[in-house]
Amino acid sequence: MSFHHQPAFDLNQLQRETFVKSVQFRDQVDSTNDLALSLATQPEIKTPLLVLALRQTAGRGRGSNQWWASVGSLAFSVLLDCKSQQLEVRNWPRISLAAGLAICRVLRRTAAGHDFRLKWPNDVYLGDRKVSGVLVESASTCPDRLVIGIGINVNNSLDSAPPEIQEIAASLSDVTGTQVNCTDLLTRVLLELEAQLHAVRSGTPTLLEAWQELCMLRGRTVQVDSISGSVVGVCQGIDQDGALLVETEDGSARCLAGVVSRIE
Ligand code: BTN
Repeated sequence: MSFHHQPAFDLNQLQRETFVKSVQFRDQVDSTNDLALSLATQPEIKTPLLVLALRQTAGRGRGSNQWWASVGSLAFSVLLDCKSQQLEVRNWPRISLAAGLAICRVLRRTAAGHDFRLKWPNDVYLGDRKVSGVLVESASTCPDRLVIGIGINVNNSLDSAPPEIQEIAASLSDVTGTQVNCTDLLTRVLLELEAQLHAVRSGTPTLLEAWQELCMLRGRTVQVDSISGSVVGVCQGIDQDGALLVETEDGSARCLAGVVSRIE
Protein backbone atom coordinates (compact mmCIF):
# COMPACT_ATOMS: atom_id res chain seq x y z
CA MET A 1 0.00 0.00 0.00
CA SER A 2 1.37 3.44 -0.73
CA PHE A 3 0.18 6.92 0.15
CA HIS A 4 1.70 9.96 -1.49
CA HIS A 5 -0.47 12.66 -0.01
CA GLN A 6 1.12 15.75 1.43
CA PRO A 7 0.10 16.16 5.01
CA ALA A 8 -1.73 19.47 5.45
CA PHE A 9 -1.03 20.89 8.87
CA ASP A 10 -3.50 23.03 10.74
CA LEU A 11 -1.05 25.40 12.44
CA ASN A 12 -3.83 27.23 14.29
CA GLN A 13 -5.01 24.01 15.90
CA LEU A 14 -1.47 23.21 17.02
CA GLN A 15 -1.08 26.58 18.72
CA ARG A 16 -4.59 26.62 20.14
CA GLU A 17 -4.61 23.14 21.63
CA THR A 18 -1.03 22.64 22.81
CA PHE A 19 1.65 24.40 24.87
CA VAL A 20 3.33 25.66 21.70
CA LYS A 21 3.53 29.49 21.62
CA SER A 22 4.91 29.97 18.10
CA VAL A 23 5.30 27.92 14.93
CA GLN A 24 7.81 28.03 12.08
CA PHE A 25 6.54 26.00 9.15
CA ARG A 26 8.57 25.20 6.00
CA ASP A 27 7.75 23.14 2.91
CA GLN A 28 11.32 21.97 2.90
CA VAL A 29 14.22 22.30 5.28
CA ASP A 30 17.57 20.57 5.71
CA SER A 31 16.84 19.63 9.33
CA THR A 32 14.17 21.00 11.68
CA ASN A 33 16.68 20.61 14.53
CA ASP A 34 19.21 22.80 12.71
CA LEU A 35 16.59 25.47 12.04
CA ALA A 36 15.41 25.35 15.67
CA LEU A 37 19.02 25.59 16.92
CA SER A 38 19.66 28.62 14.73
CA LEU A 39 16.47 30.30 16.01
CA ALA A 40 17.44 29.55 19.62
CA THR A 41 19.69 32.60 19.73
CA GLN A 42 16.87 35.01 18.87
CA PRO A 43 15.75 36.41 22.22
CA GLU A 44 12.38 37.59 20.87
CA ILE A 45 11.34 34.11 19.75
CA LYS A 46 8.40 32.81 21.75
CA THR A 47 8.95 29.38 23.27
CA PRO A 48 7.97 26.60 23.17
CA LEU A 49 8.57 27.05 19.45
CA LEU A 50 7.47 24.33 17.05
CA VAL A 51 9.56 23.95 13.88
CA LEU A 52 7.69 21.81 11.38
CA ALA A 53 8.49 20.83 7.82
CA LEU A 54 6.82 18.79 5.10
CA ARG A 55 10.16 17.54 3.86
CA GLN A 56 13.62 17.27 5.37
CA THR A 57 16.59 16.95 3.04
CA ALA A 58 19.26 16.30 5.68
CA GLY A 59 17.45 14.94 8.73
CA ARG A 60 19.89 13.91 11.42
CA GLY A 61 19.80 11.04 13.88
CA ARG A 62 21.97 10.36 16.88
CA GLY A 63 25.70 10.04 16.27
CA SER A 64 26.44 10.15 12.59
CA ASN A 65 23.11 8.60 11.61
CA GLN A 66 20.77 10.13 9.06
CA TRP A 67 17.01 10.15 9.38
CA TRP A 68 15.01 9.05 6.34
CA ALA A 69 11.95 11.31 6.20
CA SER A 70 9.95 11.18 3.01
CA VAL A 71 6.66 12.99 2.41
CA GLY A 72 3.97 11.83 4.81
CA SER A 73 6.30 11.43 7.75
CA LEU A 74 6.22 13.73 10.73
CA ALA A 75 9.47 15.65 11.26
CA PHE A 76 9.50 18.43 13.82
CA SER A 77 11.46 20.06 16.60
CA VAL A 78 10.37 21.80 19.78
CA LEU A 79 12.61 24.57 21.09
CA LEU A 80 12.24 24.92 24.85
CA ASP A 81 13.52 27.51 27.25
CA CYS A 82 14.60 25.43 30.22
CA LYS A 83 14.44 28.33 32.67
CA SER A 84 10.81 29.14 31.94
CA GLN A 85 9.99 25.42 31.76
CA GLN A 86 11.79 24.92 35.12
CA LEU A 87 13.81 22.06 33.70
CA GLU A 88 17.10 21.95 35.57
CA VAL A 89 20.24 20.66 33.86
CA ARG A 90 20.31 17.56 36.10
CA ASN A 91 16.92 16.63 34.60
CA TRP A 92 18.03 16.94 30.98
CA PRO A 93 18.82 13.24 30.46
CA ARG A 94 15.22 12.49 31.42
CA ILE A 95 13.86 14.80 28.75
CA SER A 96 14.68 12.40 25.95
CA LEU A 97 13.14 9.53 27.94
CA ALA A 98 10.05 11.70 28.40
CA ALA A 99 9.84 12.42 24.67
CA GLY A 100 10.13 8.73 23.75
CA LEU A 101 7.47 7.82 26.28
CA ALA A 102 5.12 10.55 25.02
CA ILE A 103 5.38 9.25 21.45
CA CYS A 104 4.99 5.62 22.49
CA ARG A 105 1.83 6.35 24.48
CA VAL A 106 0.25 8.30 21.64
CA LEU A 107 1.06 5.60 19.08
CA ARG A 108 -0.44 2.92 21.34
CA ARG A 109 -3.65 4.95 21.54
CA THR A 110 -3.70 5.78 17.82
CA ALA A 111 -3.13 2.23 16.60
CA ALA A 112 -4.79 0.31 19.41
CA GLY A 113 -3.82 -3.32 19.71
CA HIS A 114 -0.31 -2.75 18.36
CA ASP A 115 2.44 -3.29 20.86
CA PHE A 116 4.61 -0.18 20.44
CA ARG A 117 7.58 -0.26 22.80
CA LEU A 118 10.48 1.90 23.91
CA LYS A 119 14.03 1.13 22.98
CA TRP A 120 16.46 2.88 25.29
CA PRO A 121 17.35 5.67 25.21
CA ASN A 122 14.45 7.11 23.24
CA ASP A 123 13.34 5.22 20.15
CA VAL A 124 9.91 3.74 19.57
CA TYR A 125 9.66 0.31 17.99
CA LEU A 126 6.94 -1.95 16.75
CA GLY A 127 8.29 -5.48 17.01
CA ASP A 128 11.86 -5.23 15.74
CA ARG A 129 11.22 -2.21 13.54
CA LYS A 130 11.77 1.43 14.36
CA VAL A 131 8.81 3.78 13.99
CA SER A 132 10.18 6.88 15.67
CA GLY A 133 13.42 8.48 16.83
CA VAL A 134 14.25 11.41 19.07
CA LEU A 135 17.28 13.71 18.96
CA VAL A 136 17.68 16.14 21.86
CA GLU A 137 20.30 18.85 21.41
CA SER A 138 21.29 22.00 23.24
CA ALA A 139 22.29 25.23 21.58
CA SER A 140 25.94 25.84 22.53
CA THR A 141 25.52 29.61 22.18
CA CYS A 142 22.34 29.61 24.22
CA PRO A 143 22.78 27.20 27.12
CA ASP A 144 19.25 27.50 28.51
CA ARG A 145 17.61 26.34 25.32
CA LEU A 146 16.98 22.77 24.29
CA VAL A 147 15.74 21.32 21.04
CA ILE A 148 13.72 18.12 21.06
CA GLY A 149 13.70 16.74 17.51
CA ILE A 150 11.20 14.03 16.69
CA GLY A 151 10.71 11.94 13.58
CA ILE A 152 7.75 9.58 13.25
CA ASN A 153 6.97 7.38 10.26
CA VAL A 154 3.28 8.15 9.81
CA ASN A 155 1.87 8.12 6.25
CA ASN A 156 5.18 7.47 4.52
CA SER A 157 4.76 3.90 3.39
CA LEU A 158 7.92 1.89 3.63
CA ASP A 159 7.15 0.67 0.08
CA SER A 160 8.95 3.77 -1.16
CA ALA A 161 11.89 3.51 1.23
CA PRO A 162 15.39 2.32 0.30
CA PRO A 163 15.71 -1.48 0.87
CA GLU A 164 18.06 -1.09 3.84
CA ILE A 165 15.44 1.11 5.57
CA GLN A 166 12.57 -1.26 4.70
CA GLU A 167 14.30 -3.97 6.71
CA ILE A 168 14.56 -1.96 9.92
CA ALA A 169 11.69 0.55 9.90
CA ALA A 170 7.90 0.57 10.11
CA SER A 171 5.31 3.25 9.41
CA LEU A 172 2.00 3.81 11.12
CA SER A 173 -0.08 3.78 7.92
CA ASP A 174 1.45 0.48 6.83
CA VAL A 175 0.43 -0.97 10.18
CA THR A 176 -3.09 0.47 10.39
CA GLY A 177 -3.91 0.36 6.67
CA THR A 178 -5.32 3.89 6.86
CA GLN A 179 -3.92 7.38 6.59
CA VAL A 180 -3.46 9.20 9.85
CA ASN A 181 -4.26 12.90 10.27
CA CYS A 182 -0.83 14.40 10.98
CA THR A 183 -2.16 17.53 12.72
CA ASP A 184 -4.19 15.43 15.14
CA LEU A 185 -1.30 13.07 15.79
CA LEU A 186 1.11 15.96 16.35
CA THR A 187 -1.40 17.67 18.67
CA ARG A 188 -1.60 14.50 20.76
CA VAL A 189 2.18 14.10 20.85
CA LEU A 190 2.65 17.72 21.98
CA LEU A 191 -0.01 17.36 24.69
CA GLU A 192 1.59 14.17 25.95
CA LEU A 193 5.06 15.72 25.74
CA GLU A 194 3.89 18.60 27.90
CA ALA A 195 2.47 16.13 30.43
CA GLN A 196 5.70 14.10 30.50
CA LEU A 197 7.84 17.24 30.88
CA HIS A 198 5.67 18.12 33.83
CA ALA A 199 6.46 14.68 35.30
CA VAL A 200 10.19 15.39 34.79
CA ARG A 201 9.90 18.81 36.44
CA SER A 202 7.98 17.59 39.46
CA GLY A 203 10.05 14.43 39.86
CA THR A 204 7.06 12.09 39.95
CA PRO A 205 8.00 8.43 39.55
CA THR A 206 5.33 7.87 36.88
CA LEU A 207 7.76 8.58 34.03
CA LEU A 208 10.15 5.83 35.08
CA GLU A 209 7.41 3.39 36.02
CA ALA A 210 5.82 3.79 32.59
CA TRP A 211 9.25 3.42 31.00
CA GLN A 212 9.91 0.15 32.81
CA GLU A 213 6.59 -1.18 31.64
CA LEU A 214 7.19 -0.33 27.98
CA CYS A 215 10.94 -1.05 27.79
CA MET A 216 11.43 -3.57 24.95
CA LEU A 217 14.94 -4.51 26.13
CA ARG A 218 14.04 -5.75 29.59
CA GLY A 219 14.90 -9.41 30.08
CA ARG A 220 16.76 -9.59 26.78
CA THR A 221 20.48 -9.95 26.20
CA VAL A 222 21.86 -6.68 24.85
CA GLN A 223 25.14 -5.13 23.84
CA VAL A 224 25.60 -1.45 24.65
CA ASP A 225 28.46 0.43 23.01
CA SER A 226 29.74 3.69 24.42
CA ILE A 227 32.96 5.68 24.49
CA SER A 228 34.01 3.73 27.56
CA GLY A 229 33.65 0.38 25.77
CA SER A 230 31.03 -2.33 25.23
CA VAL A 231 28.85 -4.04 27.79
CA VAL A 232 27.02 -7.34 27.18
CA GLY A 233 24.41 -8.84 29.47
CA VAL A 234 20.76 -9.19 30.35
CA CYS A 235 18.90 -5.87 30.51
CA GLN A 236 17.14 -5.18 33.82
CA GLY A 237 15.34 -2.04 32.64
CA ILE A 238 16.27 1.51 33.59
CA ASP A 239 16.97 3.18 36.93
CA GLN A 240 15.78 6.50 38.34
CA ASP A 241 18.46 8.41 36.40
CA GLY A 242 17.37 6.86 33.13
CA ALA A 243 20.47 4.67 32.94
CA LEU A 244 20.11 1.26 31.29
CA LEU A 245 20.84 -1.53 33.76
CA VAL A 246 22.70 -4.51 32.37
CA GLU A 247 23.55 -7.64 34.35
CA THR A 248 26.89 -8.80 32.97
CA GLU A 249 29.08 -11.80 33.88
CA ASP A 250 31.12 -9.42 36.05
CA GLY A 251 28.19 -7.82 37.86
CA SER A 252 25.72 -5.08 37.11
CA ALA A 253 26.52 -2.14 34.85
CA ARG A 254 24.75 1.20 34.55
CA CYS A 255 24.84 2.69 31.07
CA LEU A 256 24.15 6.40 31.13
CA ALA A 257 24.86 6.83 27.44
CA GLY A 258 25.49 4.60 24.47
CA VAL A 259 23.98 2.73 21.58
CA VAL A 260 22.28 -0.65 21.84
CA SER A 261 24.00 -2.45 18.97
CA ARG A 262 22.67 -5.97 19.53
CA ILE A 263 19.49 -7.45 20.99
CA GLU A 264 18.88 -11.18 21.40
C1 BTN B 1 17.55 8.84 15.81
O1 BTN B 1 16.83 7.90 15.45
O2 BTN B 1 18.76 8.67 16.05
C2 BTN B 1 16.92 10.18 16.00
C3 BTN B 1 16.14 10.63 14.78
C4 BTN B 1 15.58 12.02 14.95
C5 BTN B 1 14.95 12.54 13.68
C6 BTN B 1 14.26 13.86 13.87
S1 BTN B 1 13.30 14.32 12.47
C7 BTN B 1 13.07 15.94 13.11
C8 BTN B 1 14.37 16.34 13.76
N1 BTN B 1 15.27 16.97 12.81
C9 BTN B 1 16.37 16.24 12.59
O3 BTN B 1 17.30 16.54 11.80
N2 BTN B 1 16.34 15.12 13.33
C10 BTN B 1 15.15 15.07 14.17
